[in-house]
Amino acid sequence: MIRRSIVVGTGHYLPERVVENSWFEERLDTNDEWIRSRSGIERRHFAADGQTTSDLAIRAAKAALENAGLTADEIDGIVLATSTPDFTFPAVATMVQSGLGMTRGFAYDVQAVCAGFVFALANADAMLRAGMANRLLVIGAETFSRIMDWTDRSTCVLFGDGAGAVILEARDSAGTSDDRGILSSDLHSDGTYRDLLYVDGGVSTTGTAGQLRMQGNLVFRHAVEKLTKTAHAALDKAGLETSDVNWLVPHQANKRIISGTAQKMGLPMEKVVLTVADHGNTSAASIPLALSIANGENRFKPGDVLVTEAIGGGLSWGSVVLRW
Ligand code: UT7
Repeated sequence: MIRRSIVVGTGHYLPERVVENSWFEERLDTNDEWIRSRSGIERRHFAADGQTTSDLAIRAAKAALENAGLTADEIDGIVLATSTPDFTFPAVATMVQSGLGMTRGFAYDVQAVCAGFVFALANADAMLRAGMANRLLVIGAETFSRIMDWTDRSTCVLFGDGAGAVILEARDSAGTSDDRGILSSDLHSDGTYRDLLYVDGGVSTTGTAGQLRMQGNLVFRHAVEKLTKTAHAALDKAGLETSDVNWLVPHQANKRIISGTAQKMGLPMEKVVLTVADHGNTSAASIPLALSIANGENRFKPGDVLVTEAIGGGLSWGSVVLRW
């Protein structure tokens, strides 16, 4: 018998304000056709003035608790992935904790940019399997609209705000690839690629929050190859093949990266959860948003094999395989 981390609830929140591609046409030398054809993005949500990452995360967490039929005092800890925290410290996770009225357990943030949720999920799974907790809230929440350079057409049209959450619960399992729950994870970083995607400010450099800078076409070149490789590595570790996969739930940065990865893995697009058209790139929030939306539509059946994968600033990338 071993412990496995089972998903027992999902939830998400998207800010009310929806911004269509046409909004950018009035402000920049860009157009709906370029944004749609190069990225697959049609619209995105932007947080209202004063609405913070923790505000979005609290709403997603409440939705996940409701979906699981649990109360906050039944959660042992919160692991939250974000690169756009409300403040330099404390951790956004602690603000979620207090927002949920939770006075027990631990709460901390994980920062691996767009791969943040995959890293947080792997981290929470390791803690659950080690017996350090029995139930964890794992959240991805971002307000990337706050770090956009609105004069840079090559980045500001791509990102959006949102939050998604899952609740993981440890259960005794047989220890085979037929078990429900997280079966494997595969994480990587290579800091030599730092200049491809970064924010040009920070506490110990400029003393400002800074703005996002990206050499998109270079990131693109790494993405399909590294995502396919990490997904295969995680499947290998789980003792599964691509033919066992029911759903690919990828980071939603670019439809061409997603379809390129699916194609390289030999997965038809019917097996891919796609939300990029409506959300844009919400960084660490994109996978839990996609999980929550697809779960809300009852697309996952018990026993289905899901592969999540993501790549982002660092570069950092990775994959988690789980059985629903
Ligand atoms: O989530 C974190 C990881 N990030 C990613 O995965 C993003 C990866 N990269 C991408 O998604 C794509 O590279 C982009 C969508 C960012 C760009 O697509 P691309 O096909 O790689 O285009 P490009 O950067 O090579 O630019 C092609 C052209 C350029 O013009 P020239 O030099 O060919 O004349 C750009 O100046 O498109 C131009 N361009 C635009 N044109 C209209 C760049 N942004 C825009 C724009 N509207 N918004």
